[in-house]
Amino acid sequence: MRFRTRAIHVGNERDPQTGAVVPPIHMATTYVQPGAGDWGEFDYARSGNPTRRNLERTIASLEGGVGALAFSSGMAATHCATMLLEAGDHVLAGCDIYGGTYRLLHKILNRAGVAVTIAPADDLSAFAAAIRAETKLVWIESPGNPLMSITDIAACAELAHRHGALLGIDNTFATPVLTRPLEMGADIVMHSATKYFGGHSDALGGALVVRDADLLERLYFVQNATGAVMAPFEAFLTSRGLKTLDLRVRAQCDSARRLAEWLANDPRIARTLYPGLPSHPRHELATRQMDGGFGAMLSFEVKGDFHTAKRLVETTKLFQLAVSLGAVESLIEQPASMSHASYDASDRAAHGITDSLVRISVGLEDPDDLQADLDQALNT
Ligand SMILES: Cc1ncc(COP(=O)(O)O)c(C=O)c1O
Repeated sequence: MRFRTRAIHVGNERDPQTGAVVPPIHMATTYVQPGAGDWGEFDYARSGNPTRRNLERTIASLEGGVGALAFSSGMAATHCATMLLEAGDHVLAGCDIYGGTYRLLHKILNRAGVAVTIAPADDLSAFAAAIRAETKLVWIESPGNPLMSITDIAACAELAHRHGALLGIDNTFATPVLTRPLEMGADIVMHSATKYFGGHSDALGGALVVRDADLLERLYFVQNATGAVMAPFEAFLTSRGLKTLDLRVRAQCDSARRLAEWLANDPRIARTLYPGLPSHPRHELATRQMDGGFGAMLSFEVKGDFHTAKRLVETTKLFQLAVSLGAVESLIEQPASMSHASYDASDRAAHGITDSLVRISVGLEDPDDLQADLDQALNT
């Protein structure tokens, strides 16, 4: 079965009892056992739930993994992956990563005695220079957030493996529609299911997908021991969202590309960051690594300062001023004061997350309406 067919049929088999084409939502928290100490398929909802299990099967199929785990949020998923580490270990992460991941690594993981370095993952020699003998996890995003940097996933997998580390990648922006990192050698794929997976800004969730059964077992142990599992209703909504993932992502990519081309030629804009533009420094790699689209996220710098960007994001009408991304409605935000406010100001500046940077998540509205909205806001 091809991608779109699997998105609809794997994990969504009809209910054998009633013939319902949509499997029911299982709300039970505990399950009657065949005997004392004789465990059935499900025993307790933290350890496993049929609705969550169905979603995990769909996600594993779309990413090409042996299995997936669904979490209460994207951060819970990332946190679970980092709990494989022990005091004395080191994490090497790209600099262009979600602000919450930066905060988790620098302000929580370091308390457990795990050292963290961030370096530009899109510059392989600089990235390789930051790896250490104690590095156990390399963490990247591609496209990166918020600068839309493109990282060579296969090269990072090779680098991590050469040093005995795992490669984890946050694939939230690309989704498996555009990029399937397990096929390129990554060990762990992470998603904020809150974004494109759910797709409608109404379900919080996260996922990890792996291609190695032992690693799945180790992660499952951590998930079950710590408990940040996805609830049944969120699993149901996310399963529903996945059925249209391919259609939504491809349509959103088309609109994003149109807007990026328009912004790149607009004199009011200082710089447009979108991997689909030939001017993007890694456009050629993005073309090879991404399957028929460049994502629906883009950033641009307005000519002006912090206040110019702030005014712009407060003036759009269709683009709503909000963090998050990946849903049917378009959103706009200022990374310096919103999604990346948890970066230290010095790291923000060092990595090029400027005060005049604006990030947009392109939704499913008519692209002409979206362009007109940005135009009126830029005029204002
Ligand atoms: C790229 C990326 N990764 C991870 C996360 C965290 O996911 P969640 O908010 O579901 O915990 C986000 C949230 O904005 C994100 O944008």
